[in-house]
Amino acid sequence: MFKSERIYLCVLGFVLRACKCAGESKVVLQGATLSTNESVYGNWVLNRAIDGSTGCTAIKRPTWFQLSLPQTYFVKRIVLQGRTDGAFEQLREITMFGVNADNNTVEQRVNTSSDILRTYEISPPQAMQAIRVIGHELVGHTWERPPHYMTICEIEVYRQEDCMIGTYGPNCVQRCQCLEGPCETVTGSCRTGCQRGWTGAACNQTCDNGWHGQGCLTQCGQCLNNATCNKTSGVCPDGCAAGYNGSLCIEKCDDGLHGLRYQNKCGNCQNKVPCNTVSGLCPGECEPGYNGTMCKDACDNGWYGQGCLTQCGQCLNNATCNKTNGMCPDGCAAGYKGSLCVHECENERYGLACEKICGNCKNKVPCNKLSGVCPGACGLGYNGTMCIEACDVGFFGDNCSAACGKCNGACQHIDGICSQGCEHGFAGDLCMTQLNQSKLIGPAVGGSVGGIVVIAIVIVSIIAIRRRRSTPTKRHQVDDILVAIQNDKDSKIDQTPTTSKTKPLKGPNEAISNAVYANTGSPEEDGLYYNSEPLHRERKRTEIRLIAVDKLREFVGDNYQNEKLFHQEFDKIPYGLQHPTIVASAATGKNRYKEMYAYDHSRVILRRIADEPTSDYINACHVDGYTEDKKYIASQGPVNPMVGDFWRMVWEQDVCIIVMATKLVEEGKMKCLKYWGE
Ligand SMILES: *[C@@H]1O[C@H](CO)[C@@H](O)[C@H](O)[C@H]1NC(C)=O
Ligand SMILES: *[C@@H]1O[C@H](CO)[C@@H](O)[C@H](O)[C@H]1NC(C)=O
Ligand SMILES: *[C@@H]1O[C@H](CO)[C@@H](O)[C@H](O)[C@H]1NC(C)=O
Ligand SMILES: *[C@@H]1O[C@H](CO)[C@@H](O)[C@H](O)[C@H]1NC(C)=O
Ligand SMILES: *[C@@H]1O[C@H](CO)[C@@H](O)[C@H](O)[C@H]1NC(C)=O
Ligand SMILES: *[C@@H]1O[C@H](CO)[C@@H](O)[C@H](O)[C@H]1NC(C)=O
Ligand SMILES: *[C@@H]1O[C@H](CO)[C@@H](O)[C@H](O)[C@H]1NC(C)=O
Ligand SMILES: *[C@@H]1O[C@H](CO)[C@@H](O)[C@H](O)[C@H]1NC(C)=O
Ligand SMILES: *[C@@H]1O[C@H](CO)[C@@H](O)[C@H](O)[C@H]1NC(C)=O
Ligand SMILES: *[C@@H]1O[C@H](CO)[C@@H](O)[C@H](O)[C@H]1NC(C)=O
Ligand SMILES: *[C@@H]1O[C@H](CO)[C@@H](O)[C@H](O)[C@H]1NC(C)=O
Ligand SMILES: *[C@@H]1O[C@H](CO)[C@@H](O)[C@H](O)[C@H]1NC(C)=O
Repeated sequence: MFKSERIYLCVLGFVLRACKCAGESKVVLQGATLSTNESVYGNWVLNRAIDGSTGCTAIKRPTWFQLSLPQTYFVKRIVLQGRTDGAFEQLREITMFGVNADNNTVEQRVNTSSDILRTYEISPPQAMQAIRVIGHELVGHTWERPPHYMTICEIEVYRQEDCMIGTYGPNCVQRCQCLEGPCETVTGSCRTGCQRGWTGAACNQTCDNGWHGQGCLTQCGQCLNNATCNKTSGVCPDGCAAGYNGSLCIEKCDDGLHGLRYQNKCGNCQNKVPCNTVSGLCPGECEPGYNGTMCKDACDNGWYGQGCLTQCGQCLNNATCNKTNGMCPDGCAAGYKGSLCVHECENERYGLACEKICGNCKNKVPCNKLSGVCPGACGLGYNGTMCIEACDVGFFGDNCSAACGKCNGACQHIDGICSQGCEHGFAGDLCMTQLNQSKLIGPAVGGSVGGIVVIAIVIVSIIAIRRRRSTPTKRHQVDDILVAIQNDKDSKIDQTPTTSKTKPLKGPNEAISNAVYANTGSPEEDGLYYNSEPLHRERKRTEIRLIAVDKLREFVGDNYQNEKLFHQEFDKIPYGLQHPTIVASAATGKNRYKEMYAYDHSRVILRRIADEPTSDYINACHVDGYTEDKKYIASQGPVNPMVGDFWRMVWEQDVCIIVMATKLVEEGKMKCLKYWGE
């Protein structure tokens, strides 16, 4: 069954082809034009050659005879019939021409023999508009007397049948290229114009290279490799040349687009140079943060930079760093610092952003950079894993394991020295020496033992230290400590310092007797120095602007020309005395300025000299360091009665650095006595 179907199809195909090849029809010649250049025999008019009957026409040789067809046809066969009555020679020595509309010969057949029927098969069929027959002179034929004739009894012309719509030409093998509708079946010409990509009268010529579209009027875009575009569609065969996109390659690319598949974006080529428009490859390196030949692959997490070759630092929460520049998004993990978080905290520091300072580890070994824990024991006077807690009251020294001696009050937690003297009957810096009766006379004088602590004195003209709320502090639960404030009510006494006057360690008695530096016009007649404006102070505090440490530089940079702002900020600093100053107020003559006294709770207490009730007073205060209490002392610039006390303080507190933050005279006013020798 299947086989027979196939056979059937084959037969059908054959039949169709045969029909097509056999498709011919006789041209109807009624109305055709006949002509000749010679005389016709008798009344044998030319028309007898096409009248379909047996009559003939005879023309005197030499001659031509022409049959013009009603229109141009593809002629397949021409039949000439001669005489059948024995005068066969009258079809001898003739030449048949096929002539097209341009009067060009398209077919030529010479025939010299005698016969009664000429059949000219023309293959492939030729477009003919006329058929011309030349009858040559008969030479050497004497059996018939002149004149000699060319006689044609009938002429038949067979033409190719009209082509199926859409085809034309000999055997209808050409396809019409009309924009719309059929073409003329012989010439292929179109009434509607040619299809896109075709041109010429017959619409059978393609556009010149570089042109496309209807009428071949459109120029190709910028094809890759200068290729010519598809003449029908204008599409570039291999894509666009650099810098162009779209299927026609007439759209200018944005930089960074590449052509082969023009919808693809370039990767991240370094310096944003465009990638190869065909391959998408970057001409050079990739932009930092990308790799791969197209530079489209972001670095793996944990890597960054040129070629993704650099490992991220230690980011907080194990975050992956910015693949371009390696920055950690949320800052560094504890123990690391810098924008890339590759640097460990410097010694002495630990924790997030390395903001924390190690405690007092023994031998100053660095603490653990993450936790702050000291690897070994604590330094003298400190306790706890991080060694930031001073010893409990009553203990001091290594591991806080030593008990204080018989102090008045607590001993120093580091070295055990009793700074406020000993209980009655005890002596020595540590008050561990029990006195017999004879040694009970006179104060315990002596330098501190084993001066380990470095204490610096800052001599202040103006210092206001604001302590951070977070600063560890055990003794003072205040946020702000006013250390010293200068006001303008300076002592009017002009004093020219001299060597003799500033000689250190002047007798304390002399200092007190030289009471010319008493505050002038002191208003504090009741001797009380309590805060006079608590409400005002509270209000001011609420207005205090908080600036994050890491924004401070920016803030100052933005506002440094705004003098008013800083004056306002300064005005917000709590002013006036904030805490009791009962001792100071009794020590007349030792204070340079009124209303600027050492607070009771933080004043430096000098060793008392017998019978001198104010001899433990000096206008100087302890200032806590960041991790260590009483790390510094802020002192008034000495006045004459204070010079001896000043040096006593230096000696007793084991001070080894003095920082002078004032000039002796500023703006014509005495700020500090020259307290050192030449
Ligand atoms: C007619 O045409 C033939 C063939 O071209 C030529 O030989 C002949 O001389 C012509 N006769 C005249 C009268 O022109
Ligand atoms: C056609 O060609 C023939 C010979 O080549 C010439 O004699 C004749 O005049 C031409 N006819 C026209 C209309 O050009
Ligand atoms: C002359 O015509 C006859 C019959 O059509 C043909 O067989 C023969 O080959 C022709 N001779 C020439 C020279 O064309
Ligand atoms: C196009 O058609 C014309 C007329 O039909 C013909 O002369 C020409 O050879 C054709 N050209 C091509 C390329 O087919
Ligand atoms: C592209 O082709 C045009 C015309 O064919 C020519 O003038 C031009 O020089 C060619 N350009 C390149 C880059 O080959
Ligand atoms: C040109 O484009 C047309 C239409 O898109 C398509 O049919 C034809 O095959 C193409 N020609 C070439 C040479 O690719
Ligand atoms: C060509 O590029 C432009 C932008 O440069 C874009 O908007 C357009 O979609 C692109 N065309 C194609 C066909 O990709
Ligand atoms: C791109 O970099 C990653 C590391 O970030 C690496 O694993 C990968 O192999 C690289 N790819 C290429 C093509 O270099
Ligand atoms: C951090 O990330 C790395 C790789 O992404 C992983 O191997 C490691 O376990 C992570 N560590 C933590 C603490 O999450
Ligand atoms: C990485 O850093 C670059 C350059 O500073 C920046 O443009 C980009 O937005 C950052 N990427 C991310 C994911 O934050
Ligand atoms: C040391 O610190 C611990 C707690 O960390 C505390 O219990 C102990 O009393 C402290 N010892 C001394 C002597 O300060
Ligand atoms: C300090 O304390 C630690 C732990 O509490 C202990 O191991 C060490 O022996 C102590 N050192 C001294 C000198 O007491």
